[in-house]
Amino acid sequence: MVKDVWRYLRAERANQLAALCELLRIPSISAQREHAPDVQRAAEWLALRLRAIGLEEVAVQPTAGHPVVLGQTPQQPGRPTVLIYGHYDVQPPDPLALWTTPPFEPTVRRGRLYARGAADDKGQLFIHLAVLEAWQRAGGGCPVNVKLLLEGEEEIGSPQLPPLLRARARELACDVVLVSDTHMLGPRTPSITAGLRGICCCEIVVRTAARDLHSGNWGGAVANPLQVLAELLVACKDPRSGKVRIPGFYDAVKPLPAHWRRALSETPHDDAALAKALGAPALFGERGQSTLARIGARPTFEVNGVVGGYAGEGIKTVLPCEARAKVSLRLVPDQSPTQVLAALKRHLAACAPPHARVSVRVLENSAPAVRLDTDFPELEAARRAITRVFGRAPLLSLEGGSVPIVAEFERTLKRPTLLLGFGLPDDNLHAPNEKLDLAMFERGTRTVALLLAELAAARA
Ligand code: BES
Ligand code: MN
Ligand code: MN
Repeated sequence: MVKDVWRYLRAERANQLAALCELLRIPSISAQREHAPDVQRAAEWLALRLRAIGLEEVAVQPTAGHPVVLGQTPQQPGRPTVLIYGHYDVQPPDPLALWTTPPFEPTVRRGRLYARGAADDKGQLFIHLAVLEAWQRAGGGCPVNVKLLLEGEEEIGSPQLPPLLRARARELACDVVLVSDTHMLGPRTPSITAGLRGICCCEIVVRTAARDLHSGNWGGAVANPLQVLAELLVACKDPRSGKVRIPGFYDAVKPLPAHWRRALSETPHDDAALAKALGAPALFGERGQSTLARIGARPTFEVNGVVGGYAGEGIKTVLPCEARAKVSLRLVPDQSPTQVLAALKRHLAACAPPHARVSVRVLENSAPAVRLDTDFPELEAARRAITRVFGRAPLLSLEGGSVPIVAEFERTLKRPTLLLGFGLPDDNLHAPNEKLDLAMFERGTRTVALLLAELAAARA
């Protein structure tokens, strides 16, 4: 009975949060090699936890990169099967100085749990572990067959997961995939995510001399690589219109379907409030597009970081010989990451001035965009569960972030994915002071507990 499961969740909440804090203390940063043992440790911690809550076939599956953790509830023939996906790796926590409390020392302040990974995605995957534990201990067993797939490389683009998925497609066969790694529109505006943008990334390197030079002796004679880099970046995105200037970039982009335009226009949103919440003097983006369309339905070009020259204490009058930028492009349906990267390379080569050598290094973490089905029985069941727990029917949203493996789920498992996230827009993902709203965690557990019961009942 769901009521018993809900009661268990309430009674055990402190213990479950204490366990989540143990996981949050492990700095499982997938992007940094020196943290590989921590990623491994997080995987092993999860495997122990899965066994403790009664899952079977629990395994830490090694890959050429970080491991995948697998497990399943005792499988009962005739019941629907749900594949739950989450990731236990996190983004680097820097800049450290801007955290109120250290990123790997989880701390609760005013109903929020602060830590790197609190919302993205350890806290959200823990919602599912809490629910499975509760069904196991207080509900007479899980009402559906659950298979768990927890990966340690989402934040670096899931390079090892597609082959694993293909190799194990039979074992991982399911009726629906359930992912909690997105956010809702607001605590009182529940939503289900129906679209994610795709992504592709590269590094641009500009060199103008063989070595650093005295800026007085040689400034004026040799080009400045940081200046050239800035010019190239402007050549990639128009500073006034916000339009990407890479030839062909928009060719595959189709206009947003009318039902989505309507859905976005009916989504509560206030530009001024958003600017204020983000501390931006004004919002900026592609001219002629609403903010929600710019986030969920239009592609972008972003500079993630620039390095070069001297920016330390005091002054150093140097004419540096090299500048680098890491950039990422967010993609929408029908844009191909490979084609976009090829177009970007061609454009940069064409724009490179004779006084600089420009090279582009593609980073291996691209993924296409996904736009999900919005009419399947499991989504209806999720609507009912959300409505009951949040007291309000969910809206559908298009989000700007990417979860690389989702496109592959559709392709390999050929089953729909339900993006049921319980984060909030102000969770500070990938930024200092990432947090998880504990009220959302609690509602998340009640929603998922109910959803699993609804899925079982729909089949019975
Ligand atoms: N959980 C996020 C993606 C997300 C966040 C989607 C909020 C919707 C709302 C995920 O962990 C993430 O950050 N993905 C990366 C993928 C990249 C590193 C290949 C991203 O989107 O930058
Ligand atoms: Mn995530
Ligand atoms: Mn992330």
